[in-house]
Amino acid sequence: MKKMTEQNLINAFGGESQANMRYRHFAQKARDENYPNVARLFEAISHAEFVHAGDHYRELKHLTSGFVANSMAAFGPGDTNKNLQLSILGETFEIEEMYPAYIEVARFQNETGAQRSFQWSFATEKLHKKLFEKALAAVQSGHDVELKPIHICQVCGYTIEGNAPDLCPLCNARKDKFVAYD
Ligand SMILES: [Fe+2]
Ligand SMILES: [Fe+2]
Repeated sequence: MKKMTEQNLINAFGGESQANMRYRHFAQKARDENYPNVARLFEAISHAEFVHAGDHYRELKHLTSGFVANSMAAFGPGDTNKNLQLSILGETFEIEEMYPAYIEVARFQNETGAQRSFQWSFATEKLHKKLFEKALAAVQSGHDVELKPIHICQVCGYTIEGNAPDLCPLCNARKDKFVAYD
């Protein structure tokens, strides 16, 4: 595998792993603050980041030694209001800088597996950002967010509020590959 794409996969694995853990802690905080739907949103999206990390990780199965991941983390957790803002910052970085650059490098280097993995994350993070913005607006006006069941595709991380589709629009997985958070 080309070195630039390989390092980008390592970094993306690191970033998604941290996001997974961060959102699990944010979910706990939201539950403590009596925002059960925001907590459920964090739990669902943490699962999507777990899927993304796994997708990147599987592209690295040729690695046989340690590696250093260079990944952005939004440090300094706080209350749910702040945690949602940090989450939006993290997703925005991935959407506006990280994944577009990683996708272009993978395309240039003809690394199709990595490119696909980056594309799945890129498309999904846009959905995460929208859901976090909706949750932040609710919390900032003093109440929990109204939220239908959230469905996560366990192949690509695709995230949808409401019913799961018959086929995942990103990866074509069937409905039974979706897990519900309701
Ligand atoms: Fe995300
Ligand atoms: Fe999918």
